[in-house]
Amino acid sequence: MTTDTTGTVARDGDSRPGGPADSPFIRACRRRPVPHTPVWFMRQAGRSLPEYREIRASVPMLESCRRPELVTEITLQPVRRHGVDAAILFSDIVVPVAAAGIDLDIVPGTGPVVAEPIRTAADVQRIRPITREDVPYVDEAVRQLVVELGDTPLIGFAGAPFTLASYLVEGGPSRTHAKTKALMYGDPELWHALCARLADVTLAFLRVQIEAGVSAVQLFDSWAGALSEADYRRFVLPHSTAVLSGLAHAEVPRIHFGVGTAELLGAMGEAGADVVGVDWRTPLDVATDRIGPDKAVQGNLDPCVLLAPWPVVEAEVRRILEQGRTAPGHVFNLGHGVLPETDPDVLTRVVALVHELSSRRADQG
Ligand code: CP3
Repeated sequence: MTTDTTGTVARDGDSRPGGPADSPFIRACRRRPVPHTPVWFMRQAGRSLPEYREIRASVPMLESCRRPELVTEITLQPVRRHGVDAAILFSDIVVPVAAAGIDLDIVPGTGPVVAEPIRTAADVQRIRPITREDVPYVDEAVRQLVVELGDTPLIGFAGAPFTLASYLVEGGPSRTHAKTKALMYGDPELWHALCARLADVTLAFLRVQIEAGVSAVQLFDSWAGALSEADYRRFVLPHSTAVLSGLAHAEVPRIHFGVGTAELLGAMGEAGADVVGVDWRTPLDVATDRIGPDKAVQGNLDPCVLLAPWPVVEAEVRRILEQGRTAPGHVFNLGHGVLPETDPDVLTRVVALVHELSSRRADQG
């Protein structure tokens, strides 16, 4: 730890001018002026890249998340290729749950599949608390990456309690989240016990990443949009708040993201986020009205737009930058993850376009 002249305590290496803490990405998260709008893509490290597919051809997904040299290489691939303003750690939201003792796999083309779904109080007890010793590969990979990345910030992440609970209760991906909601409505006490335990695991997992040196964290509540605002506030918000407020003193910006969350944007901000992720359904100026002036926004190009001809992509990027100017801070991103069929060259062009258009604006003051 170092103390600068203003008495602010900062992590070593983080506070030097030009370091990650002074990068456009972290500055935008903190609603400070930026030389250009920063851009990264959810799921940027993954199947849209041939160099990723080559590495993964012979290594199962969970194993690749547990090999620090592979995590480091895959995390760096999109930074090298696209020149994005931030890296996101290559991992998966179920990695800490597996480390907590739950038998699961990530099945290609399907997603996480849980051997014995969580349905009873005894099942909840099977989720053990985790410490750094349970995820040494994450600690090691983050430390390596911070060195390799230099001034480029690294984003750590975890799944939020609701989205994790959905995989655990359903046993796999679900369109309706019917079993999850049945448990939530039918046995609120058990539901809260499950989510409290998942919040503990998530908080511990994010703390490991922060102690190892990530510059920001993103809490993915991808499936929270399945709930009404009232149910979100009653069944989910207290647990996501436990995670995000538990990181309040960690000095790294906290991003909170979900899909289909137009009605939840205000509540998701209240959970303790510095930045609220917005999917493509809500224009960023409307989202900013809902979230309020004390938070930045992240988003929100429809990932499917990247499959359209370039003039369509360009027009959408321009629109999003324009609408993002109404927010006190804007991190350009997609409204959800990169689709595997995306042409990586289009992603590279989007990064260049976002930088070019937004730095022209910055020059004009
Ligand atoms: O670049 C990055 O964003 C970092 C890596 C990352 C992965 N998963 C790698 C991955 C991140 C941030 C995640 C988060 C994640 N995982 C979420 C939240 C984000 C979101 O998309 O909503 C969720 C819901 C999961 C669960 C999960 N894991 C799904 C739905 C899938 C896809 C299933 C499929 O094959 O279509 C996975 C597998 C997964 N996670 C892959 C990758 C690169 C694909 C594995 C492969 O290459 O076969």
